[in-house]
Formats: sequence, structure tokens, C-alpha cells
Amino acid sequence: MKEFPLDFCPNTEGIFAYLNYLVPATRKQILDILIEGLKRMEYRGYDSAGVAFDISEETNNKSAIKLVKKRGKVKELEAALENQNGLSYTKEYDIHCGIAHTRWATHGEPNEVNSHPQRSDENNEFVVVHNGIITNYKDIKAFLEKKGFVFESETDTEVIAKLAKHVFDSDNHEGSFREIIEIVVQQLEGAFALVIMSTHFPGECVATRRGSPLVIGMKSKAKLCTDHIPVFYSKADNRGYMAGLAPNRMFSESEYHTVGPEKEVEYFFASDASAIIGHTNQVIYLEDDDVAAVTKGCLTLHRIKRATLGEGGLNNDRKPNLQPSIRKVQTIQLELQQIMKGNYSTFMQKEIFEQPESVVNTMRGRVNFQENKVTLGGLKDYIAEIKRCRRLLFIACGTSFHSAVATRQLLEELTELPVMVELASDFLDRNTPVFRDDVCFFISQSGETADTLMALNYCKKRGALIVGITNTVGSTICRESHCGVHINAGPEIGVASTKAYTSQFISLVMFGLMMCDDRISMQERRKEIIQGLKKLPEQIKEVLAIDDEVKKLAEEMYKEKSLLVMGRGYNYATCLEGALKIKELTYMHSEGILAGELKHGPLALVDKAMPVLFIVTRDGVYSKCMNALQQVKARHGEPVIICNVDDTDTIAHANRHVTVPHTIDCLQGILTVIPMQLLSLHIATLKKCDVDCPRNLAKSVTVA
Ligand code: UD1
Ligand code: MG
Repeated sequence: MKEFPLDFCPNTEGIFAYLNYLVPATRKQILDILIEGLKRMEYRGYDSAGVAFDISEETNNKSAIKLVKKRGKVKELEAALENQNGLSYTKEYDIHCGIAHTRWATHGEPNEVNSHPQRSDENNEFVVVHNGIITNYKDIKAFLEKKGFVFESETDTEVIAKLAKHVFDSDNHEGSFREIIEIVVQQLEGAFALVIMSTHFPGECVATRRGSPLVIGMKSKAKLCTDHIPVFYSKADNRGYMAGLAPNRMFSESEYHTVGPEKEVEYFFASDASAIIGHTNQVIYLEDDDVAAVTKGCLTLHRIKRATLGEGGLNNDRKPNLQPSIRKVQTIQLELQQIMKGNYSTFMQKEIFEQPESVVNTMRGRVNFQENKVTLGGLKDYIAEIKRCRRLLFIACGTSFHSAVATRQLLEELTELPVMVELASDFLDRNTPVFRDDVCFFISQSGETADTLMALNYCKKRGALIVGITNTVGSTICRESHCGVHINAGPEIGVASTKAYTSQFISLVMFGLMMCDDRISMQERRKEIIQGLKKLPEQIKEVLAIDDEVKKLAEEMYKEKSLLVMGRGYNYATCLEGALKIKELTYMHSEGILAGELKHGPLALVDKAMPVLFIVTRDGVYSKCMNALQQVKARHGEPVIICNVDDTDTIAHANRHVTVPHTIDCLQGILTVIPMQLLSLHIATLKKCDVDCPRNLAKSVTVA
């Protein structure tokens, strides 16, 4: 048995469900709401989509559910829904439930049978949408096959629907919908968010989660009875159910009304708040092991005993694990337009151009430019402990990893501690020794990155202090870390990270500044950096103003097969990050090369035909860079150069160049990475690549 069911927190897939109670809606309106919900989550990346909805009005009031599923984009599902024989689009439903899903294939290839909703049987008695992975699905499948169930898909999810039917049938149809699902959920291991509907319980819906986000939106003309929903604790322990124990029926009873009885209300269930905010801003976030049920228009919350663990979960001795018995109805602040594209053609472009504001948001309330002081609220109580540590480890993947590479030199300088920068997957492969007096930072935009999370758990078990650097409040990394920093860059929707990178970078710089605020010898340096931070937003605007020049470069380059990006010192991270942006967005080969390594191999690649981009700024390695540039030119390379505005010497060497303003050495990487972001965006656009959803990639990589 697993020690704890973290495994994966699949966040790429999307769940959306809509239940209207005494709020009449036509079939067309209902399907539009479901499809719109899925479209709001499309940015996550997926390969198939499906919906299930109540069709009892069209079947002489015999309770029935229809399933429509499609491989490919939501648009194709939408087209399929418009062409359903025997379906009335004007039929009105006073009470109705529909569930929808976008799937990212993990078990079984992306096709219609494997898409969700998954069902219990040909009559669709129980249908389920699921984000996540059921790790013990093979055991459950074997159990159900013995009972005569025949499986149609290759998914892990199908066991949930079939187990629900089995529990219902073998209990003489006695349990309530919620009680059935509570028994089912107690058999599951792994990570999941689930929404389930059933022909036996028309107009009802049950949702639950463990390790995968789920949020419920509520909308009612009647005032909600309270802004707190009480949580009822079930004593029913059915963990021995599959071993043959009779169902334990000590379920919690609840007489609780979110709205008055017989009052009109609508509920929206989603894995992502962005799918809900178009309808309502009143939401509750479910906690792990909450079971939410809507019956007769009332929402109740219950908690169950878990399959493998008691309450409390992970050893969280540095952060008390409170189990509140209420869930607060929250008002989400996020504006819809904030996650819409606005005037930009892609989310990525919008996010690149948001950087003058997003870096301000990262520093807001934290950097005092008058007194040259930095305070990170999430770290201030831990700084003394961090200062006493043996070493600092920064562990991340992809772009987040590059933010640590970019600030490593500065952190070594300001903290005078050994600093290790690690790729999460490699760190785990090596079984790296970690000790109680280590401080481990985990950097992730989504806060759900599976490799990073596994490394987090590895370090936590060894007693290290765990620090999160995340953009997503309430994410798993945020919850599992002892302390941390929210980078506050705002929602990032483009799959290729841009503004999150510059905000991660600044967050790490702020951490370094906080670590040395009492060092007299460092005050001059601190002041210089803090004043540099102050000027950044204006300087980023200056870089964005060269967009047209970068576009011209892209027009010259986009037919090339390869691009080498060279630099050293503080700009090395920009080379790695720039090359990654080029690869992921344009599918062109690109490599970030440390200029100091040129003569140890990469120089052999250079000739007249090889496209090279060279980053050189006025800092401690300027003359070394000039030297490397000469070597490239001596092999007839014709590098495009990114350099400082006033650097006439370097400009004289270049056939083509773009310039960025000069800033403090350790911040220069923030300004040099932006032309690389723009360049990859323009090349991708010219090559007609899908900028916001590059092929084969997902926004948050939640599978290892
Ligand atoms: C907090 C508030 C902010 C408020 C400010 C006023 C939140 C999310 N932030 O910001 O709205 O304006 O105080 O003083 O309520 N944490 C982790 N792991 C992570 C990230 C964060 O454990 O990966 C913890 C931090 O240690 C902290 C809390 O989450 O306890 C909030 O972090 P952060 O938002 O960075 O703190 P403040 O900037 O102080
Ligand atoms: Mg799955």
C-alpha cells in the first residue's frame, strides 16, 4: 500500500457540471452552458471531450441519460451535439443535471470509448467524469469482473461508475446517492476529482475530490442562507467493503439548506474557477475527502474516512493541519476579462505584454524602495531558520528551473550559502541525500507539477524545511510546503510560461535580499539591486517597444531548422530559457549554449549557415563574451546579437542586433529574456503553430 496517495494531481483535464433546480432552461441553453464551461478550460490541454445529460422529458419521463463523446477539440463535440437525432433543443427542463469533461489520455488512447463520462452499463445508470488517476483500479476491476461486470474502456475511471452500480444493486437500492458514492470513494486509491450523476437519482449530483481541485459555484435569486456550509462527518467505515464486509450504514444525516426549501438555485461544478466566474462569483473550494451532494436543490457537505490514511494526511509538523468543520462561501475576485485575451491574438502575447504590470504585482507590498527594505510575508518567520541551514536547494522543472539558474549566482553572493539547482526528475533519479538542516525550494507556476511534487515529498520525509514558490494560491505545492512565496503574476494561460518566469526570477531576488538585510557589508549592493528593481517596469516597457524589430528578425529566421543561443554569466539562464521557448513554440531545434563551453564542443556546429543568437550585456563577463563572439565570427558565424543600448563596440560586430536597456548585472536576465519570448512568439505565428497550446504539451505537467 502507498504511504500517501499523492501520486499525481492531474490538473490538465477539465471537469464541468451544471445543475439547475427550479430554474427553467432549454436543452439548447443547458448544452451551451456545458460546452462554454469546457471551452474555458481548453487552455489546459486535452485530447478528447464528452458530456452526459438528462433526457427524461424525451423518454416519457422514464429517467434516462444521454452520452455524447468525441475525440479531438471541444468544437467537434459541439458539432456532434448539434446533430443528435431525436433530441429536442427547445424542450425545457425545470430541474436538470449535466456533466462534461475534457480528457488527457493517461490510461488508454484518446478515443470515444475512453473519453469521459464513463458509465456503469448500457443504460447509463451511473455516469462519472474524473480528473486524476485511480492507482488501484486493477484490483477494483478484478473484483467487479468476478461479479459479472464487463468493461468497455481501457480507463481507470470506468471502475468508479461500475462500482457505484454494484453498491446500489447489491444494497437493494436502499442507499441515498451520496451514501453509495461514499462507499465507492472509500475503495479508491490515487488522486481524483469526481462528479457523478445517475438515472436512479434524477436532478441530483454528487462530487468529491482527493488531491485534485474541485470548486462549486452557487447562483440563486434567493439569498443564500449563510456564507458558511457546515461539514457533516460520516462514521460509516466501509474500507472492508471489497473484502466482503457488509456495508456500514452509519452515514451522517443532514438537515441543512443552502437556500430555503423549494427555492430556485443553480450549481456549477468545475476543476477550475475560470469556468465558473462567467456565471457566479460565489464559490466553495472542496477539501480532500469532502463529498458534496445536491438533493432537492440543497447542497450538503460530508466527510468520509479515507482508504489508506487517517485524517491529517502528511506529516505536517511545521504547519498545524486544522480540520475546519465548515467551508466558507468565498467570493472570487478574479475578473473574467482577466483570463480572456483582451486585444491580443493569443494568451501568450497578452502575458508577455503584461510583464510591466505583473512584475509590479510580484513586488507590491513587499519592496520598500524608500527604505531599501524587502519583506516577504510568507517567509519572514522562517528567515532565521533558513539562515542557519547547511545549504539551499532549488528544485523545479522547465522554465521554473531556469528561474533558479538565473538567480543562482546572486543567491550565492547574498546568502553566502552553498546553492544547488536541480531538475526535479534528475534529483529523484539520483536519490540525492537530503538532511534536516537543508532548505528546499520548489518552484512551479501551477503548484501542481508532478515531478516537483514528488521531489517535495522526498525532501519533506527527510525533514528538510520546504519552501514553495508558486503562482497558484491553494495549489498542492502551496499546501504541502511549510512556507513560501506567491509570485502573484496573475493567471497564466499560455502553455509556454512567460510572465511567471520573470515573476519567479524577481521572487528569488527578493528572497536573496531578505537574507542579507542585516549584513553591513552588503548594504550598497542591496540598495543598487532594489533601485534596479524599481526601474524594471519602465525598462520592460522599453523592451516591449522593440517588438517590430524582433518581428523582422523572426521573418528572416523562421525557415531555419536550428538556432543556437549563446551567452554566459547572468545571461546563461536566458540562453536556456530562450532556447526552450523556441523549441516548445516553433518546433524548431534550438539549444542554449554556455559561451564558456564553446571550445569544448559546440563550436564545431558553427559555420556560415548555422543561425546563432548571442546575448552579451555590460557585466563581469563582458570581455569573455566578446572573446567568444570573435571565435564564432572566426568560424564565419553571423550571430544576431542582443546587447545593451549604448554598447557601440558590440553593435559594430553584428550584422543584425536588437538592444535592451542596461540594468544591474543580476537583473539583466529579466530584460534579455523578453526579446527571446517575442522572437519565439513571432516565429511560431509565422509557422502557423498553435501558440497557446503547442503540440504534445500541457499547461501543468501533472503526470510524471
Ligand atoms: C499575504 C496575503 C495577501 C495579503 C498580504 C498582506 C494570501 C494568499 N496572501 O501575502 O493577500 O495582501 O498577506 O500582508 O492570503 N505559502 C506556502 N507555500 C507556497 C506559497 C505560500 O506555504 O508555496 C504560504 C506562506 O508562507 C504564507 C501564505 O502562504 O503563510 C501566503 O503567502 P504569500 O501570499 O506569499 O504571503 P504575503 O505576501 O504575506
Ligand atoms: Mg484519467
